[in-house]
Formats: sequence, structure tokens, C-alpha cells
Amino acid sequence: MFQDKTKITMLMFLIFIINIIIVTSTDLRPGYYSKTCPQAETTVRDVMRNALKKEPRSVASVMRFQFHDCFVNGCDGSVLLDDTPTMLGEKLALSNINSLRSFEVVDEVKEALEKACPGVVSCADIIIMASRDAVALTGGPDWEVRLGRLDSLTASQDNSSNIMPSPRTNATALITLFQKYNLSVKDLVALSGSHSIGKARCFSIMFRLYNQSGSGKPDPAIDHVFRAELDKLCPRDVDQNKTGNLDATPVIFDNQYFKDLVGGRGFLNSDQTLFTFPQTKGFVSLFSEDQSEFFKAFVEGMLKLGDLQSDKPGEVRKNCRVVNARPAHIMSEDKMKNSDLSV
Ligand code: HEM
Repeated sequence: MFQDKTKITMLMFLIFIINIIIVTSTDLRPGYYSKTCPQAETTVRDVMRNALKKEPRSVASVMRFQFHDCFVNGCDGSVLLDDTPTMLGEKLALSNINSLRSFEVVDEVKEALEKACPGVVSCADIIIMASRDAVALTGGPDWEVRLGRLDSLTASQDNSSNIMPSPRTNATALITLFQKYNLSVKDLVALSGSHSIGKARCFSIMFRLYNQSGSGKPDPAIDHVFRAELDKLCPRDVDQNKTGNLDATPVIFDNQYFKDLVGGRGFLNSDQTLFTFPQTKGFVSLFSEDQSEFFKAFVEGMLKLGDLQSDKPGEVRKNCRVVNARPAHIMSEDKMKNSDLSV
């Protein structure tokens, strides 16, 4: 009797874990669209190249989608869904509101792909291809991506708010979070190197400039010359949507980010902590000295991040912002299926 109860509890726990996230790459493969949409990858790259020309930061903003999509119920394009009267999407979740941007670049890719091969290429896969392209086009490594994801039928603002880390997070908490996704300490440090491109708001650093850990003082890890620059960029009464560069070369994907961390010039607390904590410091030093080690580890990390899959039903959306229209009876079946599967 007691054993049966233990077995049932273990089984339920297992089902719970499987429901949260399935870490698998079984259905994903390179060249997934080679027959159904041979121009898929070149189309994505062309749109990204134009976006880079129009507004250099936009490619970094698109690359960030991979992190914010894949950590929340797997890489399923859920982050791209707009709110509906019955569903709060992830765009207004804590880490995303006033922050995630350049959704229109994904729209442009999708439009081009719907013209070339309607109903074939998922929005979830567009994020994966476009993120790779953002890196390759700004001087970083280029790699083959595994494709074949489906788009979610729903999104979860709560999951996103609960999961995505704040810029205040320290290395220990980041290690714990990444471990839940089978991502190692090395993956964490390498993937944080994505902050080699792009910008962040003053909002994300006010606490570390003026009240680190409630001390009423700045973070002591910030280099004093850099701190003077940050104080000037983000004075106490600043419009907190004002932005600063995440590293000294914000449109070039290189290992400058790690050099900056070694020099105490990391922008976010979650960046600088990677150098102040002993578990992560070694990798920061290694990547700051050897760019090819960084690139190698970054590609591995991005592939692992992209392999996080949802086990929920999916589709290929026609428009990345909304799920496809379906007859009422199928919609209610979908709803029932979703509620059975939801965690
Ligand atoms: C390790 C944990 C991470 C934390 C705590 C974090 C946090 C942040 C924050 C706070 C910002 C600026 C938001 C703002 O002020 O509006 C940001 C920007 C950015 N993040 Fe992360 N991030 C992390 C990991 C990642 C990963 C894994 C990726 C990509 C794979 C990524 C890609 C980016 C990019 C490219 C930007 C700049 C976006 C832009 O310019 O619009 N981050 N991140």
C-alpha cells in the first residue's frame, strides 16, 4: 500500500516534469525545409541583412527572442503572440514589457516566407534562423541550425514573468536556473555573451548605480571611471527608458563583452556577477582571452537552447502574432487538450 503510494507520487512527479519541458532534439534536423521551402534560410538572412542596415540594434533585439521564447514552454514562438481578449500573451510579462522589440522584423520574414511557401515555415523556426543570422551578420560564428518546430496555440504571461531572470540576478541563481534546462555553467557564461550586441535601459541598472542590494550605494564591482559614465547616462531622475550599450562594441559580435567584465565594465548586474563569482569567473577569463573558445561554446549553447521543446500541440502560424483561425468545434477541442497538458 505504502509502496503503491510512493510509486504513484513518483509517477505524478515524472509526468509533472515531462509536462514542464521536454528536452529533446528528436524531430529537429538541419535542412528540414530543403524540399518544402528551399529558399527559407536565404530569405531569413536577406531580411535580417536589410534590418541590420536599417537599424543595427534590431538584429540584437531579434536574437533576444530565442532566449525569451525557448525558456518559456520551449521554442514554440509563444513570445510572438499578441494578447487576445481571452489570453494574456508574453509580450507584457515582467522581463518583456517596454523591452522586447523589433517584432516587425519577424513579421517581415514571415510575410516573405508566406509568399514563397505558404503555411510551411514556423515562426518558432524563424526565431532560431534569425538569431543565428544576427550573430553571423555582426561578425560572430555561423552555424547550421536544427529545424522543424511547431508554433504554440497559446502563450503564458505568468510563466514568462516567473521564469525569465531579472538583471539583478546573481551568478548562483543564474546557474540554478540554467541547470533546470540542462544548460551548464559554461553554457550560461557563453550564452550571456549574446550581450556582445545590443542595448539595455537605465531601468535595468538604477538599483546597481544607487542602491545595490538595499545598501544605498553603488555596486562595488563597477570600475570607477565606468561608473561615472553610467551615472551620467542614467542620473537618478532620468527617463528610465533611455538606453546604453551592453558592451563597448554593441554592433559587433565579439569577445569584447568578456573583456569589459574583466575590467569591471559590465552593464548589467547579471553580467558583472559572472566575473565576481568564482564558479563562472574562469569561463569569463577564458572567453576574454580566446575569442574562438567563446564562439565554439556560444554555438553549442545556442543549439542546446534551441532544442528546448514544447510537448503541447502546435501548428504553423500564418501570422506570427495570432494563432490560425479554426472552426469553433476544433477550438474547443484544442482548449480541452491544452488544459489537460498545462502545468
Ligand atoms: C543569463 C541571463 C540573462 C539575463 C539576466 C538577461 C537580461 C537582459 C536584460 C535586463 C536586457 C536589457 C533589457 C532592457 O533593459 O530593456 C537584456 C538584453 C539583451 N539580451 Fe539578455 N539576459 C540574459 C541572457 C540572454 C541570452 C541567453 C540571450 C540570447 C541568447 C540574451 C540576449 C540579449 C540581447 C541580444 C539583448 C539586447 C537586446 C536589444 O538591444 O534590444 N540575453 N538581457
